[in-house]
Amino acid sequence: MNKKKILIIITIILVLLVGSGIGCFIFFKSKEVKIIYKKDNKININDTLYNTDLIKKIKNGKLISKKEKIDTSKLGKKKIEIRVKDSFKKIKKITYNIEIVDTEAPKIIFESKLSTEEGNEIDLVKDVKVEDNSKEEIKVEVKGNYDINTVGTYELEYIAKDSSGNKTKEKFTLEVTKKVVVTKSNGGYTLSDTTFKTSNGHNGVIKNGIAYIDGILIANKTYPLPSTYNPGGLTSEFTSNFNNMKAAANNEGVDFDVFSGYRSYSTQQSTYQGWVNRDGQAEADTYSARPGHSEHQSGLAADINGYGARFEESKATNWLRDNCYKYGFILRYPQGKQSITGYVYESWHFRYVGTELATKLYNNGNWTTLEEYFGITSEYTY
Ligand code: DAL
Ligand code: ZN
Repeated sequence: MNKKKILIIITIILVLLVGSGIGCFIFFKSKEVKIIYKKDNKININDTLYNTDLIKKIKNGKLISKKEKIDTSKLGKKKIEIRVKDSFKKIKKITYNIEIVDTEAPKIIFESKLSTEEGNEIDLVKDVKVEDNSKEEIKVEVKGNYDINTVGTYELEYIAKDSSGNKTKEKFTLEVTKKVVVTKSNGGYTLSDTTFKTSNGHNGVIKNGIAYIDGILIANKTYPLPSTYNPGGLTSEFTSNFNNMKAAANNEGVDFDVFSGYRSYSTQQSTYQGWVNRDGQAEADTYSARPGHSEHQSGLAADINGYGARFEESKATNWLRDNCYKYGFILRYPQGKQSITGYVYESWHFRYVGTELATKLYNNGNWTTLEEYFGITSEYTY
């Protein structure tokens, strides 16, 4: 063979080798596992996602991984691994990326109307609750200007932001109401006339030195009656409703009577002083009202039958506690409410407020107080 022939043979061999190599390459390439993913790899935080959810199609292979739930509770990138069997029955691990993101804005749960007395600083974000789909830190801030020392209505806005930049805005109103001022005058303490809003939005008015909330006269440690206030005894409203109540009780074999009804300012003065002399002021203040602060002076309240343990066990106590509301009376100082009413439990002291409010305060047997219902305090300011 001459050189030329040898060269031709080598060339043919090379062409065949390269050709079959390319052929093999194309063949294997066409048999390679190929995964086609669904559109987006972004998942919202805490959404349900399975390892196979983002796979649209597997070419030249078969999925052998079991369906498994992915933890999507943390923000950021994440690798998901699946196993597939290729056309040559070889098992291959394939990984793909997902990104857990937060696109949902936090929800603000709030009171749309807040109110405070002038001069009383209020923490506007204290009672705001935020709900979010992530465990990110949510920042709540207040937008708008207000002056706690100037009576008025302020339109403000809450803004809640999560760390992914999602934002929610909610409008609310802050009402700064006039302060109820107690001043010392001719022996007693007097409230200056004004209108105001209670902490939970009820309407208060001080008229002729007497506090009314939603039209209900209030006499407690915060709101005194003028020393001169004298309805002339128990009011006719009290008496007629009391008589109806007593008649109904009598029909059921239960009897009771007013033991101590109206007490004037001066009667209360000596009554209270008597207790102070016996027990000291701090103790007396837990069960006896200072002059001007007793509901007995309003002519709308009375102690029924008597005081103390004997009354506690009586049939009348139980009957009154369960039925008085039907006639417009309330158990004024329920058990366990001393820090709210300012007084220890008095099973014998009943106050007339009318059936509508009495039924609400009866609260299906779990007595609530005038202070809780109206959002007011019962505390001496002197
Ligand atoms: N015992 C009640 C609180 C009063 O003195 O009026
Ligand atoms: Zn009483």
